[in-house]
Amino acid sequence: MSTFQFTDRNLHDDVRDRSSLSGDRLQIDHLVSQTEPSEDELHPGSDVVQGLTQTQKSLPPRYFYDDLGSQLFEQICDLPEYYLTRTETEILGNCADEIAHLTGACEIVELGSGNATKTRILLDAYQRAKYPLCYRPIDISAGILENSAQTLLLDYPTLQVQGLVGTYELALQRLSATHRPRRMICFIGSTLGNLSPQACEEFLQQVTDALQVGEYFLLGIDLQKSKAQLEAAYNDRQGITAEFNLNMLRHLNRRFEGNFDLTQFEHFACYNSVQQQIEMHLRSLRVQAVQLAALDLNVSFDQGETILSEISRKFNLAEVQHQLQAKGLKSLQVWTDSNQWFGLVLCQLQPS
Ligand code: AVI
Repeated sequence: MSTFQFTDRNLHDDVRDRSSLSGDRLQIDHLVSQTEPSEDELHPGSDVVQGLTQTQKSLPPRYFYDDLGSQLFEQICDLPEYYLTRTETEILGNCADEIAHLTGACEIVELGSGNATKTRILLDAYQRAKYPLCYRPIDISAGILENSAQTLLLDYPTLQVQGLVGTYELALQRLSATHRPRRMICFIGSTLGNLSPQACEEFLQQVTDALQVGEYFLLGIDLQKSKAQLEAAYNDRQGITAEFNLNMLRHLNRRFEGNFDLTQFEHFACYNSVQQQIEMHLRSLRVQAVQLAALDLNVSFDQGETILSEISRKFNLAEVQHQLQAKGLKSLQVWTDSNQWFGLVLCQLQPS
């Protein structure tokens, strides 16, 4: 079963720390695997070794997100070419009251909450509807989660926050019984697109398993569109996406005593219209050898050879609804923008 985590914190056994940082309105639990330690805990970097020793070299996207990588991603979200964040925010702004109306009072669980900017739109709607505000952010980065929770508590005086620091997989397994009538799990930002089809299937099953019949799942997905528009979004003119991509090599150098020369690789992103996904690569500009001393790994590159660093799948709404339905998640409502660039789907778990 795949675990995806977007930063590099190590996690250990069960709930390690329960901190009450803001009276009784904030609780943050650090989750760690109760069963066996993960492969990454036992052998840090084994996923790097595995990826760099394949014929098509690849790296897990989680190595994008060190501190600088997270900052660069925030900059990407504001780029003129990167329509995703803007469009999803606009859709949420238009439909948040309807979402609150459809779900009624519920606990909002957000996977990959980050700085929770878009979440505020939902919280405002639930507040307008006079529902109790109960928010469960889940993020692999404790720092980001704590900061955003503290800011939210200042802005929403009745809000209760129960954060979970850990992977989505662990958090979905450990969500405790909610006090609210219902729960809505939110997975917005089209992060689903960064999962392979198989990982996506497994993830949707985990979501279903974490919900009771009648509870909700809110999913944001980037929709299929022209190759030109997609390639522009991942090859921005300011070169921020290129920096974000290359920063992964800097991160690996620091973490595993590597000697990637960032001037000898270039960012390359193209749309694969058969797989319907953007593929982001790091292309070697010359024949070269790279060493990652901490992993005891030497990798050679031909000129032009690439490392696949990310896929970003683009979806067909009807197909996604069908896939959700197969997991018992019935679409109640779908919202898109006027260009149909991005979709938000609200589903409810049906009895099996
Ligand atoms: C996080 N994820 C949804 C982004 C995407 O568009 O797939 C990551 C990203 N990669 C390059 N630009 C943005």
